[in-house]
Amino acid sequence: MTRSHWKLPVAVLTWLGVAAAAQAAAGVEGGKPVQKPADKLAAILPMCATCHGVDGISSVGLYPNLAGQKAEYLAKQLRDFKAGRRDDAVMRPMAEPLDDAAIDALSRHFGAMRAAP
Ligand code: HEC
Repeated sequence: MTRSHWKLPVAVLTWLGVAAAAQAAAGVEGGKPVQKPADKLAAILPMCATCHGVDGISSVGLYPNLAGQKAEYLAKQLRDFKAGRRDDAVMRPMAEPLDDAAIDALSRHFGAMRAAP
């Protein structure tokens, strides 16, 4: 029992550290959430990966591989889906909420991945 007195401060410090880390990860600055481009990409990517694979290689025949594709081409496809110039019922709602920065970041991300062997 005599040694338990230090546990509370340690617990408080740990909690503060966790809270600070969580705030930093969420991009909270001055109490207002700020989405940094990298955070935004991290938030969007898992959704894309469910169909196109975490490594940009899809496991479903009708879902194209994105890895190894040219970033410029991927960005054009995303803008075309968004604008409806390329019509796909699955991809249009995926592309619609993406802004230019997100489209460029996603395209660079998948374009930099290694193509399927
Ligand atoms: C529900 C499954 C699904 C999700 C989630 C999804 N996609 Fe797709 N994606 C597809 C399908 C299916 C196609 C092929 C569309 C067609 O046949 O025209 C496609 C096509 C694409 C293409 C064009 C590829 C090419 O070779 O022309 C790009 C780029 C793309 N997706 C990027 C993304 C990104 C970025 C995300 C995340 C924001 C995403 N997709 C989320 C299913 C999905």
